[in-house]
Amino acid sequence: MENLFWMQCLTAINGQTLQLIKPGSPRGVKGAGVYNMHKIKCFECGSEITDPFLDACPKCGGILTIETDLDAVANLKPKDLREKPLNVWRYAPFLPVKCNVSLLEGGTPLYDCRALSKQLGVKEVYVKYEGANPTGSFKDRGMTVGVSKAIELGCQTVGCASTGNTSASLAAYAAKGGLNCVVLLPSGKVAAGKLAQAMFYGAKVVMVNGNFDDALNVVKSLADERVLYLLNSINPYRPEGQKTLAFEIVDQLNFEVPDRIIIPVGNAANIWAVYKALSEWKALGWIDKMPKLTGIQAEGAAPVAKAFKEGSSDFQPELNPETIATAIRIGNPASGRKALKAIYDTKGYSTTVTDAEILDAQKLLGRKEGVGVEPASAASIAGLVKLRNEGVIDSDERVVCVCTGNVLKDPDTVIKSCGNILNAEPNVTDVKRVID
Ligand code: F0G
Repeated sequence: MENLFWMQCLTAINGQTLQLIKPGSPRGVKGAGVYNMHKIKCFECGSEITDPFLDACPKCGGILTIETDLDAVANLKPKDLREKPLNVWRYAPFLPVKCNVSLLEGGTPLYDCRALSKQLGVKEVYVKYEGANPTGSFKDRGMTVGVSKAIELGCQTVGCASTGNTSASLAAYAAKGGLNCVVLLPSGKVAAGKLAQAMFYGAKVVMVNGNFDDALNVVKSLADERVLYLLNSINPYRPEGQKTLAFEIVDQLNFEVPDRIIIPVGNAANIWAVYKALSEWKALGWIDKMPKLTGIQAEGAAPVAKAFKEGSSDFQPELNPETIATAIRIGNPASGRKALKAIYDTKGYSTTVTDAEILDAQKLLGRKEGVGVEPASAASIAGLVKLRNEGVIDSDERVVCVCTGNVLKDPDTVIKSCGNILNAEPNVTDVKRVID
């Protein structure tokens, strides 16, 4: 029976010859053999999907989601999880796959940013620093789960479209898992650190003459033709890994739920993942309230924030998205409707920030707190500043800003925005002269 399943997977993924990669050889994290029995459902019409290779509902074209089996974890207690090390696989009973490939992702710091909270007049401000993940962004949480799934399904080639971080992460996890990797990037718009990573880990890097939305359309077609297994966040397994970001925040705050979580929004899966995680724990009675999920977009790429402003649960795609925060330079967010649900259901908020506000916030965080994040990540800090000034955020709130990627991802932007370098002759007198 099991063999028949694997044979079907093989035929499904390629139709030609594909080497079966044997499932069930966990690497990286020991003891993560537990996983959640789950269903794949259409987010829009609720149909159950049985083909694990689909990335859209065959009936209505809607985006897919995983229905976690909460009965299976009903007897579990937070303290049971807390015996395991703090990383993605601490939460294995809530994840729809066994760990096959890990680089020890997750377990990132939650910084208590007192200088920032004092300056902004907000009771508590924390930064969840996702730049500390193995490839420097939160994408690793989704990729350990997504690539583990690819291996479970017997896939040999994985691929994605990306503004940079997804490709860097997928390239690394594919390397660790022994898979081929193809990444499609928007030409000329990928930050240097991310491009270097995708090349370095051995992915086939294809620059597409278009933006992220164009690249995503192409890679979806390649997945439909079974050329590769798609690991963009429309793959419902990816956001499942990203749920652990929210699990960790609550865990690190000793189950005292923050009032608000601020998240940069691009293709919009991450805010959905955070919502889904917290909804699961709320349903189990592990937490007593939902934080207000607050999605921040760059002014030049803001379909979700604009829909929120209009009170709509759907968004209008933008044809020519533009922002210095290239990671979130996305006009047609695949999970946009999921993001809006997350925001409305939690009585959250969404707004835009300008490129100038993003760069100011990036420096503020670096210089007040010593935390280095890339521009897209600084959007959450810029959103905090803006919404505090506008009075949307109260002074007595406990706020967590998710800072999604490391400052070293985009060194060019930092070097441009941080002003002059001093030059001196190689002697003490001249160095004293220039630093005066
Ligand atoms: N922050 C960073 C650093 C990102 O790389 C991304 C997305 C986001 C925020 C937004 O997350 O798409 O789930 O709303 N980067 C994708 C990529 C699109 O290809 O790396 P989202």
